[in-house]
Amino acid sequence: MDFSLSDKEQKLWERAKAFTMEYITPRAIELEKRNEFPKEVVHKAFEAGLMNLHIPTEAGGPGLSLVSETLVSEATGYGCAGMATSIMCNNLAFAPLVIGATIEQLQTYVEPLITGKEPKFGAFCLTERMAGSDAGAVATRAERAGDEYIINGVKCFITNAPQASLFTVFASTQPELKAKGLSVFMVPKSKAVKIGLIENKMGQNNSVQSEVIFDDAHVPKECLVGKEGDGFKIAMTTLDKTRAGIAAIATGVAQRAVDEAAKFANIRHQFGQPIGSFQGISFMLADMGARAAAARQLTRYAAWMADQDMRNSKDSAFAKFFASDAAMQNATDAVQIMGGYGYLSEYPVEKLMRDAKLLQIYEGTNQIQRLVASGNILKESANLETGFHVKYDGRDAPLM
Ligand code: CAA
Repeated sequence: MDFSLSDKEQKLWERAKAFTMEYITPRAIELEKRNEFPKEVVHKAFEAGLMNLHIPTEAGGPGLSLVSETLVSEATGYGCAGMATSIMCNNLAFAPLVIGATIEQLQTYVEPLITGKEPKFGAFCLTERMAGSDAGAVATRAERAGDEYIINGVKCFITNAPQASLFTVFASTQPELKAKGLSVFMVPKSKAVKIGLIENKMGQNNSVQSEVIFDDAHVPKECLVGKEGDGFKIAMTTLDKTRAGIAAIATGVAQRAVDEAAKFANIRHQFGQPIGSFQGISFMLADMGARAAAARQLTRYAAWMADQDMRNSKDSAFAKFFASDAAMQNATDAVQIMGGYGYLSEYPVEKLMRDAKLLQIYEGTNQIQRLVASGNILKESANLETGFHVKYDGRDAPLM
């Protein structure tokens, strides 16, 4: 078993950490107060080659692995989860296209967005007011009219929507089939694609979420990705990959909480000694460190599985809920260790706590992750042989 990164991954990891130290960490608190898309930083990230990593080389991208994406997300998440979300969001927007579109479609619609001098953005449009956890309940309609589809509906909580040039839209082509009637479309920005309400949030204020209204948006039939009815499976396959990315941002937050709390515990003296020398504090730090380390391993394993073309639904769900719960717990503990200082907005840990909360919610709540994980565990148990049986309800049942 080899836990080391390849040379290429190690260089990317170092580059992403150096980028974070230079452009994100020192400005995170100041930029958050602006409550806007951190354009300057995201443009720098694009120039530094930290975006669009998974786009295949045939479509102008670097064709890197999901492990590489998680390295960038962990490093940038350490500096600011909101900025990390703004930087990584093209991964989510374009993943359904990398999964379901042809190379020609990627070359026509995605390549021009990732190869210019300035970054261009995509937006992943799945969620609606009545289709959040129940993603199959999407009501947005796509109707075929000759050589076109006409799209109507309202999406909400869409990250990077006001910046986006291309919208990856999940819409129903056969509503009577529910989830099986969903299809996915590439919808270029136009007058028929309008930005609605921009949300005000508790944290992650360096990323922007808004409504997107499709008002008779006409797209050529070539904008359909895969076949009609492929939409739900493409959405689920996408999320299996990208949830590892959220877990990576969460790992960055969890690690930052350890580092800030430990720095404070070393220099803060009470009762004539550094507070880190009290077991009450040092044991908290040990648990926090272990959570961050475990989150990292689950995250990289889930990403590695996807890179080997292995189905990773269970493992990406484990990574997503474990890492984001770890981020929340570590941020809360860091605030506690820093006491009154932890609660002040000029220190970084109160922001970590507000930012961490969203990690437990977006890209599938942690309750949905536990449903996905337990569903897989129960399915696997049907073929499990433990070697020890008793009769239960008249049926053969394993006992351990
Ligand atoms: N891969 C491939 N196929 C899959 C799959 C997967 N991971 N998961 C499910 N499917 C298939 C099933 O096999 C099934 O196919 P068949 O009928 O042919 O057998 C079909 O899809 C339906 O599956 P389920 O019955 O399990 O579907 P469900 O309706 O019960 O829902 C769910 C499953 C896991 C709850 C799903 O709806 C879900 O993930 N919900 C959460 C949605 C979500 O994560 N939204 C996030 C939006 S993006 C965001 O937040 C990002 C941001 O802005 C930063």
